[in-house]
Amino acid sequence: MSLFRKKSLSALLASAADSEKGLKRTLGATNLVALGIGAIIGAGLFVRTAAAAGQAAGPAVTISFIIAAIGCAFAGLCYAEFAAMIPIAGSAYAYSYVTMGELIAWIIGWALIMEYALGAATVSIAWSEYLNTLLGGRIPYEWSHSPFESFTDSNGVLHQGIINAPALVILLLLTLLLIKGTQESAMVNAIIVFIKVAIVLIFIAVGWQFIDPANHTPYLIPAGTPEFKDQAGKTIADYSGVFKHGWGGVLGGAAIVFFAFIGFDAVSTAAQEAKNPARDMPIGILGSLAVCTVLYILFGHVLTGVAPWTDFVDPVKGREASVAYAISEYMHGYQWLSTAVTIAILAGFSSVILVMLMGQSRIFFTMSNDGLIPKVFGDLHPKFKTPYKANWILFVFVGLFAAFVPGHVAGDLTSFGTLFAFVLVSAGVWLMRKSEPNTKRPFRTPWVPFVPIMGVLVCSAMIFALDAQTLEVAIIWMVVGIVVYFLYGRKNSKLNDPGHTPGEILPKKSDFEG
Ligand code: ALA
Repeated sequence: MSLFRKKSLSALLASAADSEKGLKRTLGATNLVALGIGAIIGAGLFVRTAAAAGQAAGPAVTISFIIAAIGCAFAGLCYAEFAAMIPIAGSAYAYSYVTMGELIAWIIGWALIMEYALGAATVSIAWSEYLNTLLGGRIPYEWSHSPFESFTDSNGVLHQGIINAPALVILLLLTLLLIKGTQESAMVNAIIVFIKVAIVLIFIAVGWQFIDPANHTPYLIPAGTPEFKDQAGKTIADYSGVFKHGWGGVLGGAAIVFFAFIGFDAVSTAAQEAKNPARDMPIGILGSLAVCTVLYILFGHVLTGVAPWTDFVDPVKGREASVAYAISEYMHGYQWLSTAVTIAILAGFSSVILVMLMGQSRIFFTMSNDGLIPKVFGDLHPKFKTPYKANWILFVFVGLFAAFVPGHVAGDLTSFGTLFAFVLVSAGVWLMRKSEPNTKRPFRTPWVPFVPIMGVLVCSAMIFALDAQTLEVAIIWMVVGIVVYFLYGRKNSKLNDPGHTPGEILPKKSDFEG
């Protein structure tokens, strides 16, 4: 059997139409933009902006946001064509199973585990940082950091992380919520979107008055910037690499802040609920991207104007919970804002983690029904009708990362997994135009092949700008994935059964509702 055997598009569409019959087309362009913003703003903005400024881009993190947004816009237009054409659960994994065959679909599914599972780990680690800030640093360093992190305080005492317990606790709580079955109501989503956007706007408006232009000069990290060492002389940041200073650093920063845009593809999954997909999908995707990009640029401008970017490297200063730090340290008289921001962030992060855990369990569910991973991932809870075993396995997997891996490592791997999926989806749209020219496309990506090619190029450039260490771990992860495919997935694929039709294996939306 070929490695490129595909699911049949027409059979899949027929069964999708059947299983999604209950869905009404109720979402207009504004709802889609709100949906996108709700899924997008999170740890990327409130944690990774400072990390990108401190490690690679300096104040030019604003330009990094523009580059990351351009990559997302190209890939987003490609996502929209697939989403409107193949409106089923499973996102990029499902699209590629039909278009590029089983092996590529498997590879994308494996990369998406990085996006969703490690994304959830990253945000829960960020959640832990802000919780500790809210508690005035009462959780000991040892119990809120991974064993790979340490720092020497101003008294010369070395603190060595053991486990990130708060990150584990928030994951556990949200896993329990997911198992019980949750459908975040439109109302809750609207409130969270409102709070998140309000906090960002207030920070920009208030912080603007505290910008010190000296912090913006020079705008790029200059070549020859010495490495940053902690109290004990351990190197914390090294600016000698190509993607660590100057314009290369701006690209390196784009790869880091790219995380802040992850989630806009959630809009594409609502394709079959859009009133007028041809018009509303691009507005939903590009509109939410545009709103977030403008907010992010202004936010980055204020953050690096209020505090010098070098503070964001220093573990004793603003490396963690950077926004709360910048307010407390430099915006005198606004301590209330720091507390309000922190509380809003804790709520906002929880919803991002929930969406990511849910997305991952949906992908596991779909892959399990396709036979590519064991059946246990598709077992539904007898009462709650949620894939509870998948949720528990996911909790253990995500929990291990959240508890024992530093946030920046998990964050960079998340960026890799997502960028990798974007590259393949962009390429897939072009391939599909050739292989299935006559299929009905409610939304067509404009300017094919220009847009897909640019999606591939810009996203690949960001992949190459990631840390060498991240790339090594990511490549090992992908190789392990290919081995698993040949040892398990290939033999157990439902496509081995000639009598099988995709209709039998499609999850229904109602399977996830409690
Ligand atoms: N974009 C989401 C965040 O920043 C993943 O948390």
